[in-house]
Amino acid sequence: MKVIKTFFIRTYGCQMNELDSEILLTQLDSRGLKLAKSEQEADLIIFNTCSVRDLAEKKVLGKISEFKNDNKIIGIAGCMAMSLKDTLLKDYKYIDFILGTNDLLKINEILDDLQTKNIQINKTSENYDISIDNFFAKRNSPLKASISIIRGCNNFCSYCIVPFTRGREISRSKNSIIKEFKYLANLGYKEITLLGQNVNSYGKDFTDEKFLFSDLLYELNKIDGIERIRFMTSHPKDISIELMHAIKDLEKVCEFVHFPIQSGSNKILKKMNRKYTRESYLEKVNLLRQVVPNVAIGTDIIIGFPEETEEDFQDTFNLFKEVKYDTAFIFAYSPRRGTLASKWKDEIPKDIKNKRLQELLSLYHEILQEKYRSYVGDIRQVLVERLNKDQKMLKGRTKRFEKVIFEGKENLIGSLQNVKIESFNHQTLIGSLAKD
Ligand code: 5AD
Ligand code: SF4
Repeated sequence: MKVIKTFFIRTYGCQMNELDSEILLTQLDSRGLKLAKSEQEADLIIFNTCSVRDLAEKKVLGKISEFKNDNKIIGIAGCMAMSLKDTLLKDYKYIDFILGTNDLLKINEILDDLQTKNIQINKTSENYDISIDNFFAKRNSPLKASISIIRGCNNFCSYCIVPFTRGREISRSKNSIIKEFKYLANLGYKEITLLGQNVNSYGKDFTDEKFLFSDLLYELNKIDGIERIRFMTSHPKDISIELMHAIKDLEKVCEFVHFPIQSGSNKILKKMNRKYTRESYLEKVNLLRQVVPNVAIGTDIIIGFPEETEEDFQDTFNLFKEVKYDTAFIFAYSPRRGTLASKWKDEIPKDIKNKRLQELLSLYHEILQEKYRSYVGDIRQVLVERLNKDQKMLKGRTKRFEKVIFEGKENLIGSLQNVKIESFNHQTLIGSLAKD
């Protein structure tokens, strides 16, 4: 029997995983376990994993192997547990348990079992346990918190493993969301991010009442205390005019939409099963900008998808140039097991993928520099989050999600401040407190 007094959770991947780790941490904390400073100092290590790209999985497997000879309890949570299940336990005998995204509340049960039985434990049920929605986790930050409003995904983009790891869409009840939102407001939180693989699907599975994502925003905006509401991710096929109006009308809802195009080529979009065209996407972007003129738009892009020709890539490049994204995550395609695209040949050579990636990144960089240059002299409202890494300046974000650093006293952390933009450095705006 291994004695467990301390634990460490290493989180990979998206914000939903960060939130799931907070749910795990809260339960371990109430069990009386102490959070260790690093994996090395912990009796129990949980790796909360991501399967979205091959590299993410390789990183985890490399990391866990560092502990194979240590007398520690090793658990794998998250998407790798869901998509590899027993194979993980068979291939890595030193893993003590796997814990899926639907079983987050079973961590203490697993630890109890490990105390009495010398076996590997697999808790990876396929059905979502809605009591997770009523478990309010302690958050890592005292200012900003995420809450999940819809889990799973029904879209089956041909490259994506998420529908296989996180199951079908299930919206959280309005009452449970409002309750947690108020709970966080009472604790002094200032910013809440509403999470879902596709927040625009929120409420479409309710049979008893019509209550969609925009309706939720109108309700949450009424709650005192929270200054800012963010949300992600929005599938372009589902963004509605009602949502655009909500962003415009509601003072707490941030003017930032993560709106992933994935590719600018209609041929590739069709193969990706994205269910929109370049033209219909651009129409929505234009409409969004008409309704919310100062909106910032973010994207994800996959380059090197099977059969992506130079011409297809140019379509993506030109679309990027036209939209002038404010944030972009650009990935090289990697085949994922179980997906439709994994049956097709991953034929774009690595060096071409790299070249396309670099071209888009430098375009992104150019666009940002041009934008940031035009911001110099502007005054922006910043939510002050913490000390910057240099431990001297303060760091915060605008409603449009731009990172701003400026000089000021630490007691400004947690407040909204007007900052005059004076210069910039890569993706950081540098300013000073604006005089009233
Ligand atoms: N290869 C590369 N990138 C991927 N993504 C999802 N699946 C893959 C894959 N197989 C990217 C998409 C998605 C983001 C979260 O990860 O761009 O929006
Ligand atoms: Fe994956 Fe597509 Fe669902 Fe996003 S919408 S999680 S890319 S299947």
